[in-house]
Amino acid sequence: MGGGSNAIGLFTAFLNDDVELVGVEPAGLGLDTPDHAATMALGSPGVLHGMRCYVLQDDAGEPLPVYSIASGLDYPGIGPQHSHLKDSGRVNYQSATDSECIAAFLALSRTEGIIPALESAHAVAYAMRVAPQMTGKRILINLSGRGDKDIDFVAEKLNL
Ligand SMILES: Cc1ncc(COP(=O)(O)O)c(C=O)c1O
Repeated sequence: MGGGSNAIGLFTAFLNDDVELVGVEPAGLGLDTPDHAATMALGSPGVLHGMRCYVLQDDAGEPLPVYSIASGLDYPGIGPQHSHLKDSGRVNYQSATDSECIAAFLALSRTEGIIPALESAHAVAYAMRVAPQMTGKRILINLSGRGDKDIDFVAEKLNL
């Protein structure tokens, strides 16, 4: 999730169903570094772009610089609906790092021939993390975009 529009588009169809909903935000280089955009994990309630929501902000309420390997995820806020769903506990918000994202990008490309956008690969990374502990359950991943746009970037980063 960046601002969360792709995720909320899928979540609204399942909010009243007996299913677990998980939103995955970018942990970048790690939640213990300043280089992430993990608004839900490390943000606090504030106002950004006219909306009250969770915000990564400084003491004066100014948005902090954010970072993710996926350029579409570097946003210091999150939609108000997600903020409410976090407070109500209906959605479980988790994060995935840059390296987990790259590993998921490669895994889905190699095993299924589906190249996910780096943004979407964060969700794939989370699914890969939890799937081994799950039995008899189905996982639906929101592949919000295709990764053709990211191939050159990933190839350069990995010296491929
Ligand atoms: C493919 C893709 N998925 C997800 C996002 C994240 O945006 P949002 O969380 O607002 O859906 C972006 C943003 O550019 C994107 O390009």
